[in-house]
Amino acid sequence: MSRRGPSHPTSTATDVDFIEDTPTMRLKSRSLKAECKKIGFVPTMGYLHEAHASLIREAKKRADAVVLSIFVNPTQFGPGEDLDRYPRDLERDMKIAGENGVDIIFHPKSEEMYPEGYSTYVTEETLSRGLCGRSRPGHFRGVATVVLKLFNIVEPDIAVFGEKDYQQLMVINKMVSDLNLDIEIVGSPIVRDKDGLALSSRNEYLTEEERRQALAISSSLVEAREAIAAGERSPRKIREMISKDLLLHKDIRIEYVEIIDARTLAHVKEITPPVVIAVAAFVGKTRLIDNAIIK
Ligand code: PAJ
Repeated sequence: MSRRGPSHPTSTATDVDFIEDTPTMRLKSRSLKAECKKIGFVPTMGYLHEAHASLIREAKKRADAVVLSIFVNPTQFGPGEDLDRYPRDLERDMKIAGENGVDIIFHPKSEEMYPEGYSTYVTEETLSRGLCGRSRPGHFRGVATVVLKLFNIVEPDIAVFGEKDYQQLMVINKMVSDLNLDIEIVGSPIVRDKDGLALSSRNEYLTEEERRQALAISSSLVEAREAIAAGERSPRKIREMISKDLLLHKDIRIEYVEIIDARTLAHVKEITPPVVIAVAAFVGKTRLIDNAIIK
């Protein structure tokens, strides 16, 4: 079943095709391919913001038709995480998608993605071990599984992922290379609010006071970047610098501050670019991640 945006209840999206089932999505992709159209794909969990919009625009630049998926993927959430309260606003998403040039929204149902008895998963076994993989066991297995499923349904030529989720981008790249997928993965830079906070659907959870404290994450990364530019080479010193900054804020609890090789995600003994400074921290009950890529 496929329908035009406006036929969706009270949607204001303009010319977006809204597809909710797999066979229709596949048919649509196949017909685009038959017309020699290059398909760009942006997978999301919805509650779109300006960073998602920048991914869409990046895909639009590189492809003839852009497919955006909106699916809050249950298999990447652990027990006690925010699956049930993950923010949703389909109407607003359709509007943002339409305004930024999405041609097709794919919004599959959970029952279709994971029918009863579903039992096949994709596990990347190296890059997904550390960082977020350590504190969120099973998270990247869920991400890789859903992304491969979406790739198989949408059959894109290129797919765009944000560098904010740097480890996710690397795991997807590795999956694509290990499993011989013929899809070009494009990384897109972190989009921040004016005050520096990296955009995230989860920022919605923050109180005003927590949001103020959360700014320490991005500002400590700026400071770290400056220290490295000024010649600091010790990962320990940089980690201490960031941790000290973050610990000044009563509602921040650090999960990790790590300096890793940008390609292998292994800890570095000395800072020689390309490296990534990666931070995960709870601000109140909200878990946020951010990073600085030092090229
Ligand atoms: P979601 O959190 O909705 O993010 C969708 C895409 O937007 C991801 O590629 C993410 O890296 C990118 N993104 C989010 N905030 C960003 C920011 N501030 N700057 C740049 N890019 C940003 O990531 C997921 O969904 C899911 O894990 C998904 C890949 C869809 C699989 O379920």
